[in-house]
Amino acid sequence: MGLHNTAAQYGSLARALHWLTVLMILAIIPLGIVANDAAHAVRAPGATPGAQDLARAAMLFSLHKTLGVAIFLTALLRVAWAVAQPKPRPLHPDRRVETWLAETVHWLLYGSILLVPLAGWVHHAATTGFAPILWPLGQSLPFVPRNDALAALTAGLHVVLERVLVVAILLHVAGALKHHLIDRDDTLRRMLADRGDLPVPPNGQRNRLVAPLSALAVWAVAVSIGGGLGLYSPAGRSAASGAPAPALAPLRSDWQVEEGLLSITVTQLGSAVEGRFADWTAAIRFDDPAAPGPAGQVTVQVSIPSLALGSVSAQALGPDFLDAERHATATYEAALFRREAGYVAEGTLELNGNQMPLTLPFALTIDGDRAVMTGQATLDRRDYGIGDGIQDENTLAFAVQVSVALTARRGG
Ligand code: HEM
Ligand code: HEM
Repeated sequence: MGLHNTAAQYGSLARALHWLTVLMILAIIPLGIVANDAAHAVRAPGATPGAQDLARAAMLFSLHKTLGVAIFLTALLRVAWAVAQPKPRPLHPDRRVETWLAETVHWLLYGSILLVPLAGWVHHAATTGFAPILWPLGQSLPFVPRNDALAALTAGLHVVLERVLVVAILLHVAGALKHHLIDRDDTLRRMLADRGDLPVPPNGQRNRLVAPLSALAVWAVAVSIGGGLGLYSPAGRSAASGAPAPALAPLRSDWQVEEGLLSITVTQLGSAVEGRFADWTAAIRFDDPAAPGPAGQVTVQVSIPSLALGSVSAQALGPDFLDAERHATATYEAALFRREAGYVAEGTLELNGNQMPLTLPFALTIDGDRAVMTGQATLDRRDYGIGDGIQDENTLAFAVQVSVALTARRGG
């Protein structure tokens, strides 16, 4: 006996893949539950999670996702091997119902070890941020857009399909134990080790069509129960900040911003998470000088509670980070200069109750009364007392990129 299956026995590769999967599945389910509980605790309304709680929840989720992707890849290998191999015959083919049940459960198990991680992975790719998969191959998936409805659907499917997997495992283990303890046959032993020359069981009738169809029916029922429970709808999944957003007073300006994007990029567990401020205003006085020199002034006010940062908006606005309740507005006041190449804003950013100088180089093109501007700066979150509880750069990098892109029209 070797690597390959025979009609009587599982080969060593099938056995190794089976028990490797068992180990990984038995680890990932509690990990998923603990990670989910940790994430719920930090997202609960009124919760004021510390930076350490967030880091712990993110790390648990990253481990869960990374192990899940490993399970998916192992499952691909396993299914490919199972397809290429003869399937050892059931030891009691005469027991029709028992064989049908065992084979249906095998289909559910094979399907689950592909579908459960796939749903989790698509959910991950359809949302922004929080806990990355710990690998260098990127966080998105081809053909999977970032989309709240898709994220909610796949999160619900992940949980529903995982429940089916758990029931299938329970039935499967019960069956294995029954064979071992009641029937006292070789079913479990031939999955555990090479049993030498086992007799080849009689060639009974196989449920080639009925078993997979039964598995499909189980999934269909489970998925529709999930729908009935409203598990696939985005309602209630968004991380609303809860902090009141104060209206920003209109500023007098020589230029009116027509379209603008103010975004930040933070690096969490080595992976970039981009966020945007929906509400900000800019008062701009700008006269393009012919030669390098002063060019005007700008005052930007940003409504901190208007930040959307992937699935961690509420946490980012909490007291350990941007503390939106106490410091609802950030203000940047700067003088503008033309340089030999490009332009620069030099001024002070008041953020989270701290003031620090900030220089923001920008590119500008003016076409008649229309200006297009893009600029970028990097700030150090520690200068503003943001996330001081996380001093580990690998958990949350110190550098935060700020990007502005806007078009403005001349006129008060
Ligand atoms: C066979 C593999 C996997 C199993 C058995 C599994 C199992 C679980 C379990 C038990 C939960 C907790 C559900 C609850 O408490 O209601 C969970 C949640 C979660 N898992 Fe997995 N998981 C797997 C793979 C993955 C993968 C590959 C990813 C992403 C790359 C992932 C992402 C998630 C996410 C984001 C949640 C939270 C869902 C939510 O927000 O409702 N999982 N998983
Ligand atoms: C935890 C997740 C588990 C998964 C995903 C899983 C999956 C599977 C699958 C798909 C097969 C069919 C192999 C084939 O014939 O192609 C199988 C067979 C088998 N599994 Fe598991 N299994 C799990 C856990 C267990 C546990 C805990 C036990 C032991 C108590 C066990 C005992 C067996 C036995 C004895 C067979 C051979 C059945 C036969 O010869 O008809 N499995 N398993």
